[in-house]
Parts: sequence; structure tokens; C-alpha cells
Amino acid sequence: MKHYLQFSDFTADEYAYLFARTATIKRKFKSYEKYHPLVDRTLAMIFEKASTRTRVSFEAGMGQLGGTVVNLTSTDSQLGRSESIEDTARVISRMTDIVMIRTFGQERIERFAAHSRVPVINGLTNEFHPCQIMADLFTYIEHRGAIAGKVVTWVGDGNNMANTWLQAADLLGFTVHVSTPSGYEVDEKLAFGGRQPRAGCYKIFKDPTQACQGADLVTTDVWTSMGYEAENEARRKAFAADWCVDGKMMAVARPDALFMHCLPAHRGEEVSAEVIDGPQSVVWDEAENRMHVQKAIMEYLLLGRVSELP
Ligand code: CP
Ligand code: NVA
Repeated sequence: MKHYLQFSDFTADEYAYLFARTATIKRKFKSYEKYHPLVDRTLAMIFEKASTRTRVSFEAGMGQLGGTVVNLTSTDSQLGRSESIEDTARVISRMTDIVMIRTFGQERIERFAAHSRVPVINGLTNEFHPCQIMADLFTYIEHRGAIAGKVVTWVGDGNNMANTWLQAADLLGFTVHVSTPSGYEVDEKLAFGGRQPRAGCYKIFKDPTQACQGADLVTTDVWTSMGYEAENEARRKAFAADWCVDGKMMAVARPDALFMHCLPAHRGEEVSAEVIDGPQSVVWDEAENRMHVQKAIMEYLLLGRVSELP
């Protein structure tokens, strides 16, 4: 049994399969072709933080695959009344076939997985957001082709998204240019689990505009992630000076560079309206693709590689 707790849980070969599979699953959806491989299967979703995209994409996606969904939050389940994560995992995994969790520390999802009889998917932790990076990569591939050898620029907080980009670059042969304000750097030890990453898979820049030079994709995220709200004011001060992706930054990227943001976005903070609403932005495709990649992930974790590829 496999879990998807961080991006490095799948190999490059598995990603090649999953991207091809996502394209097939998306094509079926777009052509209204019924595809119900997960009839009688149930997905449990546990949200300990807010969500719009993750909630809708997993719930709609599981329904489209013929399965059903149970949605739990910390406030409406016994998790909010201090039932342990281990006992919760033991119980939920006897009644459902697959679990998606959005929570705080990565150790919480790891503890859940260690006591689960069924596959567990990370729907965002403080440390990682693997489903989102998979959707971003699939979106890049759809628009521009292979990602290997390309430059992805991360401008902003060294957060769950940034850590996951590092893992993806290490595994899939592209380079991440990272520019964060000082004090908000990426955690390489966490991203690479103490291993030596592939040489040249990431490069740190003090100046965000320099980091955008020659980029194939520029991406950013909120200055304050969920769970860090107490730091809001300090973060606003640290990020406001330079860490807004604007037209000047996009101008030094490649002319065909794309802009992505996992959303929700704050126009005028981490990104200007002209960029996120401009011609290089693919944020709506990116959001939609969450659903298609997650359908491929659920199918893979429950059924393995299906031989139905075109
Ligand atoms: N990008 C993303 O995960 O969005 P939600 O927080 O709305 O799920
Ligand atoms: N980094 C953000 C992503 C939200 C989808 C957060 O963790 O809040």
C-alpha cells in the first residue's frame, strides 16, 4: 500500500505515468465520457484548515470516478475534542478506502498514515503541498511541453509550496530559482530529507528580479500561509518591499514565460493584478487541473497502473 504524503513519495517514472493518465482522465471528463472505476469506494476528507479548491476538486473528482466522499473538519469531528490522530486513523480507515488530509504539521499526517489501513493523500501541510505542485507541473506540460531543463522561479515565502517545488526539481530535472526575504528562506534539510539533492536543482537569489531572469515559469504564493496568521504584520513588512510579482519581473523572464499561483491570491500583495489577470497567467487552468491530477492519484493509489491507456 502506498501513501502520497510528499512529492518525493512517487518516482520520476510514476510521475510520467500519472501525467499521461491525467491527460486521459481529463479528456474523458471534457468529452462527458462516463468513467466509474471507483464505484463503491469512499474517500474520507479531513480538513483541519480552510479550503475551497482542495475540497471541491477532491469531492467532485471522486464523484466523477463513481465513488463517494465523507467530509470531516476538526470542529465537527471528535478530532476537535482531542481524540488522537492514531485512533481516528484506525477507525476511519476501517470504513473508507482512501483518505485525504489537510492539516498543520507534517508529523500529523505521518502519524495518521502509520495507523491507517488505506492510502493517505496530503491535501496540504505546513511543510508540503504535493497535489498542487503536481497540478502546476501538469499545467506547464499542457501549455509548454516537458519541464526537464526548464527554469521555475519562486518569489516569496519559503513555505509548503516552495519546499515542494524543491523536491519536484530534484526529481524531475529542472531548476528552481528561489528568492525569499531574509528570515523566510526555504528549508533544504526538510525538502531533501537530509539527502544530497541533484546538483543544480535549485539556486538562491537575494534579488527577486534577478531570480526571474530567463525563467520559463514564475510563481508565488501568499505572504502568510494558514497557521502563521500571528506573524501577519511582521511578514507584511518583510515582503512588501520587493516580493510582489509585477510586470517588471515578468519582463525579464522568457517572453513565453507562464505565471502560476496556487490561489487564493491577494492582488497588490504577492502579485500585481496586471500579472495574475494578464496574458501569461494560467491560474484558472492550474486550479482546474487540481481535480484532474487528483483523480489520477486516487485511481493509481487504489487500482495501480491501469492498462486502459490509449
Ligand atoms: N490551492 C489550494 O490548495 O486552494 P484551497 O486552499 O482553496 O484548497
Ligand atoms: N501556502 C498557502 C497555500 C494555500 C493553498 C498556505 O499554506 O496557506
